[in-house]
Formats: sequence, structure tokens, C-alpha cells
Amino acid sequence: MPTVELIGQGMEGAVYDLGDGRVSKTWFDRRPDDVRPLKAFLDELPPLPFRTPRIGEIGQQNGQAVTVEDKLTGTPLQDLPEDQALDVFVGVVEALGQTTPGPASKALPVLNQPFWYDDLSWGEALAALVRRRAAESQPHLHGFEDLIEHVTAQLRTIEPDKLSVVHGDICPPNLLMDGPRAAALLDWGFYSTAGDNTFEAALAAGFFDMYGPEARRLDDLLLDRFEQLGHDRHRMYLYRAAYAITTATIYDENAGDGHYVWCVDNLKRLADRL
Ligand SMILES: Nc1ncnc2c1ncn2[C@@H]1O[C@H](COP(=O)(O)OP(=O)(O)O)[C@@H](O)[C@H]1O
Ligand SMILES: [Mg+2]
Repeated sequence: MPTVELIGQGMEGAVYDLGDGRVSKTWFDRRPDDVRPLKAFLDELPPLPFRTPRIGEIGQQNGQAVTVEDKLTGTPLQDLPEDQALDVFVGVVEALGQTTPGPASKALPVLNQPFWYDDLSWGEALAALVRRRAAESQPHLHGFEDLIEHVTAQLRTIEPDKLSVVHGDICPPNLLMDGPRAAALLDWGFYSTAGDNTFEAALAAGFFDMYGPEARRLDDLLLDRFEQLGHDRHRMYLYRAAYAITTATIYDENAGDGHYVWCVDNLKRLADRL
């Protein structure tokens, strides 16, 4: 009889290793119908140079969704030397930039809200999300009103050359490695959509090291790398600001967590660059 072990507990659910090559996720706040768009999105993902999760059965326990996936294996990115880890990280973002998103990516909610509606353009949809989340986060974004106004006005006008599949949360804990190459990218859905790959780059640069003593150096280094690859620097700043505004209070509506502090720090830092 395989033993079941808790291997991850995040904001959205608890992940258990079922001991038979599969994992299950018990969702805290989602019913089976709320998980179906994510399953459709994962089913639709195009081939990538690393594995991605697939949701099998969707069950339920007391009305809450319980999903089962194949266990994806690998070692943490942290085990690699820094220059190799950065190369892998950039490579994952660029691989997603080669994709073409399908209809399920536009049907997926972003931050649990409808995103692609009313024929909005990418920039308009993101600007609208920024507006809604800024309103939902008052009074914790007090003092940033002008910045938010400025950011939404500029976002609305962005017309990317192409849309790609956006993961939206490319960070070391969500990457599994096989030696020096990426083996799997986990944890889709929070900010996943069809969008601008430069948005992915702007977020990922900030996520490589969010809270360590080297965070700022690594963030700048990755932004430089992405800029050299053709991503517009100013647009990356706009996207980072959009992320900071939209997620400032996403994990704690009372703004009492480290994520909020990170977002506000980013906004202060970006204020004179935007
Ligand atoms: N399909 C999977 N295969 C192997 N490990 C997984 C899988 N899904 C999740 N995990 C593990 O559980 C952790 C948390 O799951 P994740 O999907 O990242 O949710 P969250 O970060 O929102 O809690 C992951 O970092 C990983 O260690
Ligand atoms: Mg995760």
C-alpha cells in the first residue's frame, strides 16, 4: 500500500504524493467546475522542451475539487550554479515565446477574474484588470493613484506583435530540473493566459530571487538579458508595475504579507522610470 505524503501546500490547495507515480491536489476554494478551464488549458498546451502537468480525473470532497496528475520529477533549480540557472530560466521564458495560444488560454480566468472579454485587446484587458485590482486593493495602494493612472493609460495602447502562451509564475519552485536542463514547469493557472511574452519576461526576472540579498542584482541582470533578446525595457517596467498593482493584496487582503511589501517596493522603484 503506497503511503500518501503532503509535498506542497500553497494558497490554492494542498498537493499530496500518492506514492504511485501520481500526485493529487485538494483545492481549498474551487469546485470541480472551477477547475475545468485549467484542465482544458493544460490539455491544449503545445509541445514544449519540458513537461507540463495534465489534470486527469477531477473528483470532489465536500464540494471542493480534488484533482489527480502524473507526478513530474526533477531537482530544484537552486542546485545549479548561478550562471547555468539563469540560462535555464531565460530559456524557459523564450520557449514559451515560441508558442501560439489556443482558445482555452483565453477562456482561463486571470487572478480568478474573467480577463479576455468584450473583444478587448491584450493591453486593454490587462489595463482593465489593473483598474479592478487597484480598486479592490484600496486603501493599500494609497499614494500610487497617479502611477496607476499612468500605467493603465500606457498599457491600453500596447499591441504586441504576437501573443504567446503565458505561464505568469515562472519561479524556481515551479521549475523542476533534470541536471542542467528544465524537465518540467509546474503550477499553471494563477496568471496564465494568452499574452505578450515580454510580460512573462518582466515577471520572471523579478521572480528568480524575490526575497534574497541578491534579489536586486539578479533582477537587473535578467532584465538586461531579456532586453538583449529583444524585449523592450520600458514595456517590461510597465508589466512589472501591472503585476505589482494586481497582486499586491492577492494573498492577504489586509496587506500584511511579504508579497505586498515586494509589490510596493517594485512600484516605488519603478515610479521614476515609467
Ligand atoms: N505534478 C506534479 N508533480 C510533482 N510535484 C508536484 C506536482 N504538482 C505540484 N507538485 C509539488 O507541489 C508543490 C506545490 O504545487 P504547485 O502546483 O506549485 O502549487 P502552489 O505553489 O500554488 O502551492 C510544487 O512546488 C511541487 O513541489
Ligand atoms: Mg508553486
